[in-house]
Amino acid sequence: MNLAATETMATGPMAVIVPILYIIAFGLFIYGLSGLTGPRTAVRGNLIAAVGMGLAVVATLLLVQTNWILIIVGLVVGTVLGVPAARNVKMTQMPQMVALFNGVGGGAVALIAWAEFRATDGFVDTALYVVIASMFAAIVGSISFWGSLIAFGKLQEMLPGRPIGLGRAQQPINMGLLALAVVAAVVAGLGGAGEIWVIAVLVLAAVVGVLVVLPIGGADMPVVISLLNAMTGLSAAAAGLALDNTAMIVAGMIVGASGSILTNQMAVAMNRTIPAIVAGGFGGTASLPGADDGVERTVRSTSESDAAIQMAYASQVIVVPGYGMAVAQAQHAVKDMAKLLESKGVEVKYAIHPVAGRMPGHMNVLLAEADVPYDALKEMDDINGEFSRTDVTLVIGANDVTNPAARNDPSSAIYGMPILNVDESRNVIVLKRSMGSGFAGIDNPLFYGQNTSMLFGDAKKSVAGVTEGLKAL
Ligand code: TAP
Repeated sequence: MNLAATETMATGPMAVIVPILYIIAFGLFIYGLSGLTGPRTAVRGNLIAAVGMGLAVVATLLLVQTNWILIIVGLVVGTVLGVPAARNVKMTQMPQMVALFNGVGGGAVALIAWAEFRATDGFVDTALYVVIASMFAAIVGSISFWGSLIAFGKLQEMLPGRPIGLGRAQQPINMGLLALAVVAAVVAGLGGAGEIWVIAVLVLAAVVGVLVVLPIGGADMPVVISLLNAMTGLSAAAAGLALDNTAMIVAGMIVGASGSILTNQMAVAMNRTIPAIVAGGFGGTASLPGADDGVERTVRSTSESDAAIQMAYASQVIVVPGYGMAVAQAQHAVKDMAKLLESKGVEVKYAIHPVAGRMPGHMNVLLAEADVPYDALKEMDDINGEFSRTDVTLVIGANDVTNPAARNDPSSAIYGMPILNVDESRNVIVLKRSMGSGFAGIDNPLFYGQNTSMLFGDAKKSVAGVTEGLKAL
């Protein structure tokens, strides 16, 4: 049976009902996506898009009308594996979860391309656009699947987070393997070639996926996951073209377009270009702060009660949350502390760096969970001018996003990344457990600043201690 043109197989009332269901589903995808632009509407937007996907699945079942048992078995297996995994995942593990789920999509698309090859007996008498779309889906889907698995392994610490590469040979090898995959795809697409050629396409693309992601350091990983996500979308759209299935084309293009925009926005926020990221980057190394460079540095530490006094007499306090706030789950304690400060006439604002934490919008989600008002959350560009007029900036488990080396040390691995200008505040109090580095694995000169004091300890405990100190005043 030819898998292509399944949609045109619909006959009778289904020829009308299926397209109508698909159009409603597309409307729901787009409406749902528009809800994801803000935390207030995000949950509803997600639900609306999920209903759209449910409708698209029903429409596809009506369309296919054969192999239902297999499809239902697939749905059950996916539900049994996916629902508990999504329910139990910790917020801090969300990026690897996204990587894994995205990768499975890419793998499915690659298998569809293989199935299409078999269904047409090796693309015999097959329209050229079906062949091109199938082979594109095979290459991109396979790269996306294997690349996503490596990204998952790195973030889950099953593989080393540091870049693992072949140095200068890396790019020519990657390009050479990609070219070989394209050659194999051309041979497979000529019509009547043996199955070994399509397997060669999938294997070569798999090796490219692995080799491209292995040299990428931990700090660049979110951008890579978003890029792979966009690639999965594009490959799904190509598979939709091959199968003549509008739902796959539309859903794939939505994922491809939104993923590309997100990738670009994240790369801009980290001041990295996408080619530079794919060529291998920084991150994941465990360098000890200030080690071995012979320079004496002094660090001033403070206590919870001193921090409370400093903040109680401030007119404005800016809270800078980072990954450590997420680890400590300190968001509710932060909200309580801010409420107390406000009751004492102190204005409290939150400075949100676009890549603080480990996923886009990480800080917004946590603070929204603690009912921090959205208008108190200020984006980097809006708040950066205010630090110099601020009495106390409270850095809660943030590190890289406050590192002034990004602004003034051209030798720094994160030089050029836009940061929150925390060091310009009159006083800075940094809450973290040790002098340990953040995700980029580099030292932070902010901690040695004249105006900085460190409050060592778990962020939740420290914030609760500051709140107790405020109550005692
Ligand atoms: P980081 O630079 O990773 O620093 C987090 C700091 O939190 C660490 O230095 C750690 O120091 C501290 N910490 C950890 N657990 C803590 C706890 N229980 N209590 C108090 N402090 C704790 O975080 P950031 O400033 O948010 O920057 C984000 C970094 O991750 C950037 O490099 C970014 O590029 C990268 N990244 C971002 C994303 C996205 S899209 N947001 C995804 C992946 C990676 P101690 O160990 O001393 O406590």
